[in-house]
Amino acid sequence: MPRRCEAGDDGAFDEEGLARGAARSPRERPARAHPAALAGQVRPLHRVGGARDGHTAVPRHADALLRAVDRLEHPRPRRGPVRFGGSRFHGADPRAVAAGVVRRPPDPAGAEPSGRPRPCADRAGPAARRAEPGRHGVPRPRGGGAPDGHLGPDRRHRDEGHAPHRASQRPRTTRRRRRAAGDAVTAAAVRAAVAAVHDPELRRPLGELDMVRDVSVDDAGVAHVGVALTIVGCPAADRIEREVRAAALTVANVTAVELELGVMSPAERAALTEKLRGGRPARQIPFGPESLTRVIVVTSGKGGVGKSTLTANLATALAAQGLQVGLVDADVHGFSIPALLGLGGAETPPPQPTRIDGLMIPPVAHGVRTISIGMFLGADGHAPGAVAWRGPMLHRTVTQFLADVWFGDIDVLLIDMPPGTGDVAISVGQLLPHAEVVVVTTPQTAAADIAVRSGLVARQTGQRVLGVIENMAPLTLPDGTRLDLFGEGGGQQVADALSNDAPVPLLGSVPLSPQLRSDADEGRPVVVAHPDDAAARAIVEVARAIAGTRRPLLGRTLPVRVR
Ligand SMILES: Nc1ncnc2c1ncn2[C@@H]1O[C@H](COP(=O)(O)OP(=O)(O)OP(=O)(O)O)[C@@H](O)[C@H]1O
Ligand SMILES: [Mg+2]
Repeated sequence: MPRRCEAGDDGAFDEEGLARGAARSPRERPARAHPAALAGQVRPLHRVGGARDGHTAVPRHADALLRAVDRLEHPRPRRGPVRFGGSRFHGADPRAVAAGVVRRPPDPAGAEPSGRPRPCADRAGPAARRAEPGRHGVPRPRGGGAPDGHLGPDRRHRDEGHAPHRASQRPRTTRRRRRAAGDAVTAAAVRAAVAAVHDPELRRPLGELDMVRDVSVDDAGVAHVGVALTIVGCPAADRIEREVRAAALTVANVTAVELELGVMSPAERAALTEKLRGGRPARQIPFGPESLTRVIVVTSGKGGVGKSTLTANLATALAAQGLQVGLVDADVHGFSIPALLGLGGAETPPPQPTRIDGLMIPPVAHGVRTISIGMFLGADGHAPGAVAWRGPMLHRTVTQFLADVWFGDIDVLLIDMPPGTGDVAISVGQLLPHAEVVVVTTPQTAAADIAVRSGLVARQTGQRVLGVIENMAPLTLPDGTRLDLFGEGGGQQVADALSNDAPVPLLGSVPLSPQLRSDADEGRPVVVAHPDDAAARAIVEVARAIAGTRRPLLGRTLPVRVR
């Protein structure tokens, strides 16, 4: 029997070789670095054949085997496969080891390098189970025959062009693959369901807004969903979370939802705002002649005739009729729209618009996207401040409302004007020359005269008078008598006076209404709070009349091209 000695020819002691555990009698030294070796008791290597169970004897070629395992355990960069016993063994990818995917390099002899038996794949945990032949450095067996020499299932598999499997692993692997495929299908369904949830502020699906991140479903049916909110402290976060959970749970096989809410990066936000603007440059008013949005300015020369009340109710009624509606409170000095729509109350300030970079997302009330200077004052919890601005500041504010507020693809934009024909009226005339104007008046002759003047000023800027609304018309009392507080006929009078160029219709006559007044004080549009009220019915009819009219094509750029 060939002998091998760890000592050099000169009797010098090779401690390093012993430390590597290369040569010892198995009985004296089952571990690689036995203390006796270090003490210098050098003995010849006994080659013990037969046992391969790792318990009773060092296997044949143990020294070479241990060195091979050592090389696998300490792979050097770009080291190729280790050859042993006619097989090639690949060291496990260190990244996979570090990530815990693979616990340690596989031992071809079924024994851990220390000599302890290696747990068989069936008993091992998930990481060990993943270390299958052909994966993570575990070699596919050569020959593939069964231990008894017959052509086993491995061989048959390979001959059919498939990757070999151990017979005991095959059903499990198939099941796992099927399950993984099923998880992927479920994850796709969860993604679709979550992507369809609408952002309550932007009113577009999360998928369209690129807000859905990773979606996966694990073996237990738990859906892991990532959603990126637009900004930190997004006011819609709670609602988005609720609706995303509900949407994910509608998918079959999903048992629970784990939601991770993140925030968009600046680059993602920039991409979103660009998408929302639809390619339009920042600070550009989107309601030009090519726009499909009708802009309707509600004006009157006189104060207190009910412009704001009517505007809030008309907007609500149009939204209830299915239109997408925006509302700009251009009455900077005497804003009242937030209170009329119930945005904020006596104690609480109105909600502020959400800012996404340079875009302001307006709060929504009764389906109406609304912006008002009142949303920017008194946010510190104190009484709302007064606005004492002159022309340039007023112009800038109105311009910002029109350019920087994102209303989305709305059908109608209503603008509540201050009384008179001052700075704001001129600014709105300049900024929106293609808008249509609704003139509000009371039946009173004095109010009618001033209302006519406001209609004429609007015309001078190029705007078209759509019609006249008479407000505070006579009220019919329960006993049948009529209360004509402001007289009668002022609305028709204004319509006639403005009809010299083109006919201007009287769109409707809204009676005095105690219910309308008290609902307005409570922050509830009467058209939704008391739709049977006479004033509410009259306002709904006016809304229908407005929706039924078409914007004239004259002076408009149509979005069509001749080829
Ligand atoms: N048809 C109506 N019946 C009863 N009260 C009404 C009616 N229309 C408006 N009002 C009440 O009249 C008051 C003034 O209304 P509103 O503020 O809407 O007028 P305005 O024209 O916007 O005023 P301002 O010119 O100051 O902006 C409010 O108290 C409102 O509730
Ligand atoms: Mg007003």
